[in-house]
Amino acid sequence: MKTYEIALLPGDGIGRDVTDAAWAVLKKASNASGFALSGTSYPWSCDYFLQHGSMMPADGIETLRNFDAILLGAVGWPAKVPDSVSLHGLLLPIRKTFVQYANIRPHRLLPGIQGPLRAEGFDILCIRENTEGEYSGAGGRVHQGADNEVAVETAIFTRKGVERILRFGFEQARARRGKLASVTKSNAQKYSMVFWDEITWKLAGEFPDIEVTSYHIDAMAARMVMAPESLDVVVASNLFGDILTDLGAAIQGGLGFAASANINPDRTAPSMFEPVHGSAPDIAHLGIANPIAAIWSGAMMLEHLGETTAARNVMTAIEATTARGIGEIPGKDETDTITKAVLSALN
Ligand code: IPM
Ligand code: MN
Repeated sequence: MKTYEIALLPGDGIGRDVTDAAWAVLKKASNASGFALSGTSYPWSCDYFLQHGSMMPADGIETLRNFDAILLGAVGWPAKVPDSVSLHGLLLPIRKTFVQYANIRPHRLLPGIQGPLRAEGFDILCIRENTEGEYSGAGGRVHQGADNEVAVETAIFTRKGVERILRFGFEQARARRGKLASVTKSNAQKYSMVFWDEITWKLAGEFPDIEVTSYHIDAMAARMVMAPESLDVVVASNLFGDILTDLGAAIQGGLGFAASANINPDRTAPSMFEPVHGSAPDIAHLGIANPIAAIWSGAMMLEHLGETTAARNVMTAIEATTARGIGEIPGKDETDTITKAVLSALN
């Protein structure tokens, strides 16, 4: 039987609750579709940091490299370890080192879920650049604590990085409804964002069948609220994509429903699947976190592994669950109730 080796990184807080839920659903879906998932769990987290002084062992990345995919819960517990340390010690190095340059985040309403907008029929695929831009980590501080202190953090945009994420976006648009929105702020940022726009329009020549529009990030934020149904594929830089996908999560009913995939399209290293939400320490282990975002991310993992039938089955089970109103109101249904409903809908 075909067996996929999956690294499980539950991480911190509700990351653990939702990873358990997603894993139970994925295991059941794999059994029914004639393949196997073998999971190896690593305790890398803020608690691990408190014991070992790092978020993962020195060979952590090399350990993960051997897997077919990574399923991650959430990272961060700022009362234990500053976010700027924990995220740069675990989540962000995985995205960068494994060249998971395409962060894919679908935003649509699941059946039975009432979003905050009047609009219902939207189906947006946000594609966020995931390895450079504003998250490059290039910068420094001098004269720390003094009056003349200076902090510099430089966004880095490379031709290779911008071209590959836009090309990926064009290809996704071709497989969907043929529309691509490229998001910048080139009216104010006259180097990197003008560069991004230029590459957008150069590539548009290669994809004459795609309807391309350039938007500024502020206008896109308004559009996602006022006319989300007008959007198909939205491509943005690392930080802009981060912000837009929390907005996307909000219009789809909340972070409990927002899934994401960090994809290495060239398959030179494993891809990683994680809900958009964070570790939510305030509700950690209370059993009330919504596992649907994590389960949906797991379905994206099956899709990436080529197990399209099983992926479809998981999505159908999620949809059958929300259609019954389960998971609709934040905190009302417990993690366990929602997970059991998805599991039984898988039959
Ligand atoms: C996300 C998160 C992360 C990000 C944080 C935790 C570093 O907000 O996946 O959207 O900004 O990428
Ligand atoms: Mn985010």
